[in-house]
Amino acid sequence: MQRTLVLLKPDCVQRRLMGEVISRFEAKGLEIVAMKMIRITPELSRQHYAEHVEKPFYRGLEAFITSAPVLAMAIEGLEVIRVVREMLGATSGLKAAAGTIRGDYSSSRQMNLVHASDGEEAASRELKLYFSEEEFCEFDSVM
Ligand code: CMP
Repeated sequence: MQRTLVLLKPDCVQRRLMGEVISRFEAKGLEIVAMKMIRITPELSRQHYAEHVEKPFYRGLEAFITSAPVLAMAIEGLEVIRVVREMLGATSGLKAAAGTIRGDYSSSRQMNLVHASDGEEAASRELKLYFSEEEFCEFDSVM
């Protein structure tokens, strides 16, 4: 069983698409084991996006990700890191395939609605930025 960090970004919150995106994860049978709305600070943005801080688009990315609240979620399931990334589609909404979350709802490279960890190491590091161990709520599945 794996866990991954998913962020519903400011554009997702502001466009009232949170329910739609959460529904897709639930319909897939994934388990949301923690969830909170927070406003990302510039410091947390630099920690979260450490690998992008030196990139030309980072300034715009920080302005965007700190512009409104995000919904942070820990999602659990078999191979969930890969499964969620596939459900999101390509980074740019313009390139993401129809049927994926970004492909269906985004036409932007930056405002691409959802972030998800891209590997086990990233998931472990990113989950710790948003949640403490006691915030994870396991439950029995009836599916
Ligand atoms: P995410 O999956 O959260 O990881 C890094 C984020 O940076 C990405 O989604 C986009 O929001 C943003 N991003 C990636 N590449 C670019 C780019 N070339 N221009 C602007 N924003 C980008």
